[in-house]
Amino acid sequence: MNATQAVRVAEARADFPILHQQVHGKPLVYLDNAATTQKPKPVIDAIVSYYTADNSNIHRGVHTLSERATVRYEAARERVRRFLHAASEQEIIFTRGATESINLVAAAYGRENVGAGDEVLITALEHHSNIVPWQMLCNEKGAKLRVAPINDAGEVVIGEFERLLGRRTKVVAISHVSNALGTVNPVGPMIRAAHRVGAVALVDGAQAVAHIPVDAPALDADFYAFSGHKVYGPTGIGVLYGKKRLLEAMPPYQGGGDMIRTVTFEKTTYNDLPYKFEAGTPNISGVIGLAAAIEYLENIGIENAAAHEHDLLCYATEQLRRIPGVRILGTAAEKAGVLSFLLEGVHPHDAGTILDSEGVAVRAGHHCAQPVMDRYGVSATTRASFALYNTREEVDALARAVRKAQEVFG
Ligand code: ALA
Repeated sequence: MNATQAVRVAEARADFPILHQQVHGKPLVYLDNAATTQKPKPVIDAIVSYYTADNSNIHRGVHTLSERATVRYEAARERVRRFLHAASEQEIIFTRGATESINLVAAAYGRENVGAGDEVLITALEHHSNIVPWQMLCNEKGAKLRVAPINDAGEVVIGEFERLLGRRTKVVAISHVSNALGTVNPVGPMIRAAHRVGAVALVDGAQAVAHIPVDAPALDADFYAFSGHKVYGPTGIGVLYGKKRLLEAMPPYQGGGDMIRTVTFEKTTYNDLPYKFEAGTPNISGVIGLAAAIEYLENIGIENAAAHEHDLLCYATEQLRRIPGVRILGTAAEKAGVLSFLLEGVHPHDAGTILDSEGVAVRAGHHCAQPVMDRYGVSATTRASFALYNTREEVDALARAVRKAQEVFG
């Protein structure tokens, strides 16, 4: 990161109107970015301008507003295509979020390709959204869900992952970055290992895309899922990247308008990609907001944001380690943006409440990753997670608030 880029990251704070407020009489310190990121002004403006000037339904109307809305919607798809380096816009499906993207693959690919006795391999790091859809599929089909374990640092034990792969493995579904611990998985080699046994590989990139530049074809991911709201975009919008030949062979996920070519009561023929998977009026403003978010992040530079967040993560780790009674969960060699911890004698929810009273917003709970909590024998952690607009001063405020929680419950 050169000096100009560092300044740009520091200045970015001004682009986020929500950050400039007080909570309980203290300046807001927003450290719950793994749950959702805040939105910069260009994203808010893009949504306002869409509803102010261009709101209309897409792909249907012959009138000017509909044409404008369609152009903006499809231009957003092109931006997402470039963001993931996909070969074709046909490989970019808009969904409600990473959760729906994974459910789409489990339902449309899984139901056709996973049968009795087959296996789906996930890791012990997964978010519920990359566990439950596969569990549902396995239950329906009489298939088996296999889970690659993690070590004490929160890293997937790659030898075990490879040992669990076999000729019965049909799908491998892995997170790029763990939401609960921040571990960055070596998804490239894991995908290659999946391919060696003939399985397809899905990557849950919900926690990755704001921190790691992703080239889905270079990774050779068969499917890559992410959510808009974790990358400075709106809630309720997400993306599924899929290899064209796989998407083409898959049946539709939902039926309705826009996903059809012809309909009679006897037979329906389906639309081309990507529309085959976008039934009904989509989240048009969400798509436009997501494109604005990606443009914003790319202007800052994902590598610059990542370097800044890495500095914050190291600084926060150092600060919290100095406080007696703090135990950090997740000490992987490769981590992105997440610091999960326990405070001796203080329940994470109580810690979260005291932190909030100091203006510090963190998440406390199982982080929709109960098996990760089980692995460490705890029911919850307190989690601070960083974004490009956070500062070292905010990390200091976090450390002060943690000490305060200890005093209160000491
Ligand atoms: N998956 C989100 C989180 O980790 C909600 O907080």
